[in-house]
Amino acid sequence: MIELNKVNKYYGDHHVLKDIDLSIADGEKVVIIGPSGSGKSTLIRCMNKLETVSDGSILIDGVDITEKKAPINKIRANIQMVFQNFNLYAHKTVLENLTLAPIKVKGVKKAEAEKTGREYLDRIGLLDKADAYPSQLSGGQQQRVAIARALNMHPEVILFDEPTSALDPEMIQEVLDVMIDLSEMNITMVVVTHEMGFAREVADKIVFMADGKIEAVAPPEKFFTEDQGERVSSFLSKILHK
Ligand SMILES: Nc1ncnc2c1ncn2[C@@H]1O[C@H](COP(=O)(O)OP(=O)(O)OP(=O)(O)O)[C@@H](O)[C@H]1O
Ligand SMILES: [Mg+2]
Repeated sequence: MIELNKVNKYYGDHHVLKDIDLSIADGEKVVIIGPSGSGKSTLIRCMNKLETVSDGSILIDGVDITEKKAPINKIRANIQMVFQNFNLYAHKTVLENLTLAPIKVKGVKKAEAEKTGREYLDRIGLLDKADAYPSQLSGGQQQRVAIARALNMHPEVILFDEPTSALDPEMIQEVLDVMIDLSEMNITMVVVTHEMGFAREVADKIVFMADGKIEAVAPPEKFFTEDQGERVSSFLSKILHK
């Protein structure tokens, strides 16, 4: 589904992604962890062309999205992103947030977009908020809406960049529960998060980044029990003892 080959990214002289090779299969759930500044956000932003790579290739379903003529709107429709700060449209209702992109970008009929939108709102437990505005919702509810919005594009891939790190602690689990529910669907998920319980439960593999490089890739049962090197153990000891 996603194939990164020798991906490099510079910001000026700053080398932030270094020879990244990574294969993600159709429907696979991948959790990316690593210290601040290690390149996690940059890496996933390259996967839907929010950032351009300096060199290397990124194949999605066999199509190289780093090519200049790659169809950016089609790519982003198929590879949705959920951000730390939700990024809902403040002046649109919850349902309008869910229907805007399917109608505009994919040409879905309004009635159809609303029908599937309501189904996803029901799935995340917020059907009763369809006509509310984002400011009338809690942070956890807004993030669940952002996830439903991504789903309503019927993407093959959803990228999550620290989806729970802007939330009050009591709201984290409700968002993780929605993501766990989502993991039952055949959607490829790439999740930057430090929620290790979620990683253990959902991830097919955990990718550890440091200094712009992938330092370790392993399924959770190996990642947490077998030696992955000093950088991984020192990072894990920090986040697990917070
Ligand atoms: N637009 C930009 N211009 C210049 N440098 C950038 C830009 N975005 C990120 N960087 C730099 O690239 C490096 C990787 O940043 P990135 O945001 O990908 O890290 P991260 O692993 O997501 O960190 P965090 O855990 O803090 O979110 C950092 O050194 C950062 O300062
Ligand atoms: Mg980041």
